[in-house]
Amino acid sequence: MRRFCYFWSKIAASITMKKQTISFELSVFESLEELNEQDHRLMLLAIAARKDAYAPYSNFKVGAAVLLENGEVVIGSNQENASYPSGLCAERVAVFQAGAKFPGVTIKSIAITAKSNTHLVTKPAAPCGNCRQAISEYEYKQQSPIELILMGEQGDIIKCQSLDDLLPLSFNNSYL
Ligand code: THU
Repeated sequence: MRRFCYFWSKIAASITMKKQTISFELSVFESLEELNEQDHRLMLLAIAARKDAYAPYSNFKVGAAVLLENGEVVIGSNQENASYPSGLCAERVAVFQAGAKFPGVTIKSIAITAKSNTHLVTKPAAPCGNCRQAISEYEYKQQSPIELILMGEQGDIIKCQSLDDLLPLSFNNSYL
């Protein structure tokens, strides 16, 4: 009898279950020169910021440049620590600084780039999960998309229209 009930509950589940696909579109550029002027300039600032990363442990230097609606640009680079988890990624250094210096000003886009002292980074630098969550907070708060322009040291550059594309089904304030 118990097995019978289980069987029927499974049938019921398969009748109501729906499948959904989440997809997103991104743009791929082969060089910095292909970017529009604003994105190009922002990426050059991220490259400059990358040079000041403090990354003696990973030797992986990341730079981020945040463009705000008021035209200001706030930069960040990863800042490591002998107690590894105490360090912070470039993206969060930049967006937290933007939030602290220009509270309430909408973030339009973020350029991110990475370079290693040990190998050539040819893949676009994708923000880590913690940084996605942190940027997502600002996107949700401002209710407008934040574009991301991602680059390694060389190679393709990708542009995403919104952080939400990189973190679908995200947790935010609406659950609280
Ligand atoms: N890092 C960033 O700055 N941003 C990311 O999104 C990924 C990782 C830094 C953290 C650490 O200093 C080094 O890269 C290696 O993980």
